[in-house]
Amino acid sequence: MRTKQANPQNPITKPDTQQRSTGRIGDMEKIKIGDPDVVASRIALGTWAIGGWMWGGSDVPSALRTIEAATDHGITMIDTAPVYGFGLAEEIVGRALAPNGRKRILIATKCGLEWHGEKVRRNASLTRIREEIEDSLKRLQTDYIDLYQLHWPDPEIPMEETAGALAKLLREGKVRAIGVSNLDRSQTEKFRQIVPVHTIQPPYNLFERDIERDLLPYAKETGLIVLAYSALCRGLLSGRMSAATRFDGDDLRRVDPKFQQPRFNQYLAAVSELDRFARENFGRNVLLLAVRWILDKGPTIALWGARRPEHLHAVRQVAGWSLDEASTREIERILAAAIADPVGPQFMAPPERATEPAAA
Ligand SMILES: NC(=O)c1ccc[n+]([C@@H]2O[C@H](COP(=O)([O-])OP(=O)(O)OC[C@H]3O[C@@H](n4cnc5c(N)ncnc54)[C@H](OP(=O)(O)O)[C@@H]3O)[C@@H](O)[C@H]2O)c1
Repeated sequence: MRTKQANPQNPITKPDTQQRSTGRIGDMEKIKIGDPDVVASRIALGTWAIGGWMWGGSDVPSALRTIEAATDHGITMIDTAPVYGFGLAEEIVGRALAPNGRKRILIATKCGLEWHGEKVRRNASLTRIREEIEDSLKRLQTDYIDLYQLHWPDPEIPMEETAGALAKLLREGKVRAIGVSNLDRSQTEKFRQIVPVHTIQPPYNLFERDIERDLLPYAKETGLIVLAYSALCRGLLSGRMSAATRFDGDDLRRVDPKFQQPRFNQYLAAVSELDRFARENFGRNVLLLAVRWILDKGPTIALWGARRPEHLHAVRQVAGWSLDEASTREIERILAAAIADPVGPQFMAPPERATEPAAA
């Protein structure tokens, strides 16, 4: 299996340490988002778990150390959202970054959800977005957001109103780039007619591949950057889980259909085979393979959710190698052989105007 050459036309900067299985640690790859000044690391820290809600609770000191570890390892983008811990994740990001100044760390956050207690619903109205941006800026202890993303589409609000609100924030300099999350291709196309969109944020990992049908090709055609969420499939691709793994409290994996038997065993079998394949061919584990696979799929940033500093110790081992076509084919074979009953991440969608709590 050969290493793949980078395409010189794309916005991705790879270090010149292209090699396969030497175990050499590479420099972080970078990618431009819109404005040439907005250059992000291709691995970003995801902070949903740090907020605790739907992840069995938050450990603030550990979260602060995780953010410090992320920046030490060369991660320069942090993805968060008001709803993660109902403000707590943003507050933690603010506390972690403010003492040293923002400098080179890019903050990506979101808008378009509201909550009452722990009941979450969509609200992407102009009024809600104006309120949310001010709250986010306070919690993040900053006066601008590098990437501001609509978290979920809100069918009850005209897209012109939502997109118009974001366009205004861009003009005011409160946000530097705009993204959309969980929008399909036609919704994204419509949104882009009203306001410049720089990024999309869909679920994308080895097990959740819907975007390959149309959103990913669309992003490649149009220059949109893809922030791939649940890069580790909510920890399933970390390689640490077994059939005996249990989750506490409100941890969403207690209801995530991938983590329920008999399906859980199918996914665990795939993880085990992928791990064997990664070790034999690249001297890496399944987690590193999962992140590398995302980066090799196009103009992507992998959102790696971590809540303990040791989660990130191998980040730099994602760089310096890549997957060729034969490897990609073998990965497809492993997935098809192991997973007879695949299921997607649809269970995470928050209700449009209902009152049941939901993921975001
Ligand atoms: N836009 C949206 O609607 C949306 C939706 C979902 C996610 N996101 C974004 O994407 C980010 C990542 O997705 P995600 O939070 O769903 O999860 P993920 O990145 O797929 O998985 C995160 C979990 O993997 C485990 N993990 C990470 N590194 C590990 C390591 N080295 N060893 C062992 N386990 C490890 C940890 O679980 P344990 O601590 O439990 O072991 C961690 O909480 C989020 O934080 C958020 O920023 C966005």
